[in-house]
Amino acid sequence: MKKLMTLMAVLLMAVTAGAQNPMILGENHAMLRVMQGKRYLLLPVQEKEENAHIAVLDGRNEMVKRLNVRLAVDKVDYWVPLELMEGAALLDIEFHGDRRMTGAVKDFACWREMKYSDTFDTRNRERFRPLYHHTPLYGWMNDPNGMFYMPSSPSGNDGQAGSADGTWHLYYQYNPYGSQWENMTWGHSTSRDLIHWEAQPLAIEPDWLGAIFSGSCVTRGDEVVAIYTSAGHHQTQSMAVSKDGGQTFEKYSGNPILTSDVPDFRDPNPFWNEDIKAWNMILAVGQEMRIYSSKDLKEWKEESRFGLGYGNHDGVWECPDLFKLEDSKLKNKKWVLVCNINPGGPFGGSATQYFVGDFDGHRFTCESMPKVTKWMDYGKDHYATVSFYNAPEERRVVLAWMSNWQYANQVPTKQFRSANSIPRDLGLFTHGEETYVSVTPSKEMLALRGQKVKQPTEACEIVVDVKGSADITLSNTRGEQVVMHYDAQQQTFQMDRTRSGDVGFSEAFPCETTAPTYGVVRQLRIFVDRCSVEAFDSEGKMAMTNLVFPSEPYNTIKVKGGKATIYEIAK
Ligand code: FRU
Repeated sequence: MKKLMTLMAVLLMAVTAGAQNPMILGENHAMLRVMQGKRYLLLPVQEKEENAHIAVLDGRNEMVKRLNVRLAVDKVDYWVPLELMEGAALLDIEFHGDRRMTGAVKDFACWREMKYSDTFDTRNRERFRPLYHHTPLYGWMNDPNGMFYMPSSPSGNDGQAGSADGTWHLYYQYNPYGSQWENMTWGHSTSRDLIHWEAQPLAIEPDWLGAIFSGSCVTRGDEVVAIYTSAGHHQTQSMAVSKDGGQTFEKYSGNPILTSDVPDFRDPNPFWNEDIKAWNMILAVGQEMRIYSSKDLKEWKEESRFGLGYGNHDGVWECPDLFKLEDSKLKNKKWVLVCNINPGGPFGGSATQYFVGDFDGHRFTCESMPKVTKWMDYGKDHYATVSFYNAPEERRVVLAWMSNWQYANQVPTKQFRSANSIPRDLGLFTHGEETYVSVTPSKEMLALRGQKVKQPTEACEIVVDVKGSADITLSNTRGEQVVMHYDAQQQTFQMDRTRSGDVGFSEAFPCETTAPTYGVVRQLRIFVDRCSVEAFDSEGKMAMTNLVFPSEPYNTIKVKGGKATIYEIAK
């Protein structure tokens, strides 16, 4: 009994400590004085509510931060941490949406549920969180940004020498205050092997020029230079420099460095072009890509535009990339211009198209007829694909955001939303008159292969040697299944996820995706990781990435027309 009383007292204290007394100023306006001494204020989020606009003021009434949070009205989905160490003294909160009219702001659940804490628990709580794909510790993620490889210098202070022994840096579009798109910030993770990622502190945070949209990094001597879109009232390009290898960035005092009156003006991707001994940059502008040159990364001269009349234009052109690739058989070098487009993908929503041609430092010339459209991946969940700058061994390694704008904000996860694809290496191949980009799982994926198992597990690689046409079905005891079919006559590969598990959160989710295989497929490599299935032709002629949300892992495989070897992947 005594024990019970003590427990109740402790609980009561916790609840009392959590209760907040806001100053209610109107039907949609409140202020909250911040208690001092703790590291975080944990804000309760209810996803179906509208964003409340929060201004964080310091002790001199200066605004130190502005953020949008879906503060809980009657139920808490999860909490997000607001760091208080920057001198937060007062929160000025403006609520939006209909609910503020039906209930009194003073009764909203957020006041009862806010908590002060010195810690924030980021341990994984969700069954759909991938085991070997990169995900943020919590919160929303979209495009990969600013990816680069930093070799460890021979005299490096980590004691490791050699150019292929460095660190891969991945920044990403991130919302630290909820698991839906908002408050765009550059999150940051690093890896030694492209697979095991370590979360790093936020790299670039919003400022008065706007949210930090997509962009890219280059290395210049000891510096890492980030160029990104400041998304304020208009989209402009800004620059930030890191002198500590990409951990922290200082924004350039001359920002913005590039402006325009076109509304969609974003996602800069600069690179050093040895052919002209200058920097080039490609930028998505409306339905075109603009190409620039510069001597110092600050002053940019427009060189040319590419895109009108070429490829697919059923959506906005975004997240470009431009690089040289080698055809290993023909020993031929060609330039590839990557153009992510949303909507307009082959199965609706977001997808990655590309153009093959030549680039002389000034102008990109596409070698195909304008009407030809080439897709890098024929699944529904492969977007915003860009490559790592400065990858070793002349590799061109890419990561995609493994989702689709049609339903990315609704997928059935909460603590985090979205993962990246597995890393892929790009090359070239020819089929008929055309040259295409080949996509193969990066060699680092081979090191993940664990023991051979008879049936699939929640994280595994399935290698299927096929002879002629083949049917491959993954299923679980609930009868949920992913059905794949390779048609040797048609030279197509299909994946059907209409009965794969939870498909009801968006009408656009259930679907069948079909890819051309540009010739015969001899071997398929299929990567399963809790909520994704990525299928590749081993030779790189076909890639297909689809999300799935089965109520339990697929634990049975049926193969007709081929032989499957399954490797467990243990992280
Ligand atoms: C693509 C995109 C980019 C933009 C970013 C904003 O998914 O729309 O064009 O910079 O997302 O988060």
